[in-house]
Amino acid sequence: MNKKDIPLNHLAIIMDGNGRWALNKDLPRTSGHAAGEHSLSRTIDWAISNKIKWLTVYAFSTENWLRSSDEVDYLMFFNRDLLIRRRDEFNQKGVKFRFLGDLGDSKIPNENKILMKETEEITFQNSNLNLVFAFNYGSHNEIHSAAVNLHNNNLEKELSIKDVQRSFYSYFQYPEIPYPDLLLRTAGEKRISNFLLYQLAYTELIFIDDLWPDVNQDILDNVLLEFKSRNRTYGKN
Ligand code: IPE
Ligand code: IPE
Ligand code: MG
Repeated sequence: MNKKDIPLNHLAIIMDGNGRWALNKDLPRTSGHAAGEHSLSRTIDWAISNKIKWLTVYAFSTENWLRSSDEVDYLMFFNRDLLIRRRDEFNQKGVKFRFLGDLGDSKIPNENKILMKETEEITFQNSNLNLVFAFNYGSHNEIHSAAVNLHNNNLEKELSIKDVQRSFYSYFQYPEIPYPDLLLRTAGEKRISNFLLYQLAYTELIFIDDLWPDVNQDILDNVLLEFKSRNRTYGKN
């Protein structure tokens, strides 16, 4: 198969730069998050029209609780408000939501938990695009939880290394999610920030300087071209 024929099946995005976008415009950081909603919506439309089946977006990390309480409160409000305002529209577009992360955390407001559960239920039958919304997500938590689940489910058994290798990923929250083909991070930072550490083993990485609220379909087209020019060899040659 020609490498140009390799489809982009799963795109993961670290949506970064909302705060800087707002500061550049002398606006409060929170308005950068609000502006990022339009980029997310554009990206969903773009992914559907490019037949990308999986889109994982980093919306709130386990480390983002360290921000000011005003910003954290805003982000909790913003994420539930977004679902209230737009989930019907996303549902009509055939988007199936999954929320990836520690959703049982008592720091997450109950209204958010209810809305996330309802949104998963409402969009369950959809199949145009699988949208994985990483919320209160951190890879270290995810990997540690998988290790605990594996232990608790195999108390009576003596597992070999091979058994662990074969089954470890099945103890993740959503083992049916394929590994990302491409990770995109916006806003110029070149780090992973505790995102999908296990799943990114052979993922192509693209870092762009554009701030997340500025991302549009032209920028995404260029990212896709760059991805298609890569040669994925998985250690072979
Ligand atoms: C990303 O933008 C959004 C979240 C982390 C919720 P930032 O808020 O990190 O924006 P910068 O990096 O400060 O510009
Ligand atoms: C990563 O961005 C988290 C999200 C985009 C939700 P951050 O802005 O929080 O990460 P650092 O602080 O640059 O590593
Ligand atoms: Mg940031």
